Amino acid sequence: MELFRREDKMSSLITRNYNLLPVINRFGIRLGFKEKTIAEVCQEKNIDTDFFLAIVNTYTDESYFPEAEFLSFSPVLLIDYLKNTHRYYINYVLPKIEQLLNKVMESCPDNCSSLKMINTFYQKYKSELLLHLKLEDEKVFPYILNLYENKTLSPEGSFIEVIENEHTNVEVKLSDLENLIIRHLSPNYEDNAMNEFLTALLQFENDLNDHARIEDHILITKVIEFEKELKK
Ligand SMILES: [Fe+2]
Ligand SMILES: [Fe+2]
Repeated sequence: MELFRREDKMSSLITRNYNLLPVINRFGIRLGFKEKTIAEVCQEKNIDTDFFLAIVNTYTDESYFPEAEFLSFSPVLLIDYLKNTHRYYINYVLPKIEQLLNKVMESCPDNCSSLKMINTFYQKYKSELLLHLKLEDEKVFPYILNLYENKTLSPEGSFIEVIENEHTNVEVKLSDLENLIIRHLSPNYEDNAMNEFLTALLQFENDLNDHARIEDHILITKVIEFEKELKK
């Protein structure tokens, strides 16, 4: 897919890739763009247009990841965006997925033990993910901001390895859950309810993978650079 440019209409962003709807909301952008271009809307909202384009293009084209450009942005911008994404996961996506799962459970007439197992698996996954987001919000992001703003290392450390490991763990768990449902679960539920739940799960997986890609490749690289500089 062709990449978005600053002179493109903001409306074309949504008509070409509606998955970007929640992404633009994270920047405080809402519908009703009229004929305005991406650059015009960004300027009005005081958003760095290059950063906005790097994010929406990363979400749109899987092979696009402008690592050098991302590394040139301030960590304040990156962290602000990542934190907004966490809030979207915690306040909207996870409760929504849970609601859809409950609907699937309610639609099961009898012999629901394997569905109950899926539910237990999901609950475990959710608590691990919430702990991961909390660690980033409460420890990792403040650590990086402190490095950047005050140029000091904290004795607590950066949690970089912990974060990288946790990304692998949550990714594996989510794809295990999807595999269980797609390959092994006996179809003892209402189809539409299951399709809605599974679609939401798969969409979440995409969003989460992009999110982790920014954290692993950009944020962590920045931390290593900062730490090296300070330890000189
Ligand atoms: Fe995160
Ligand atoms: Fe993360």
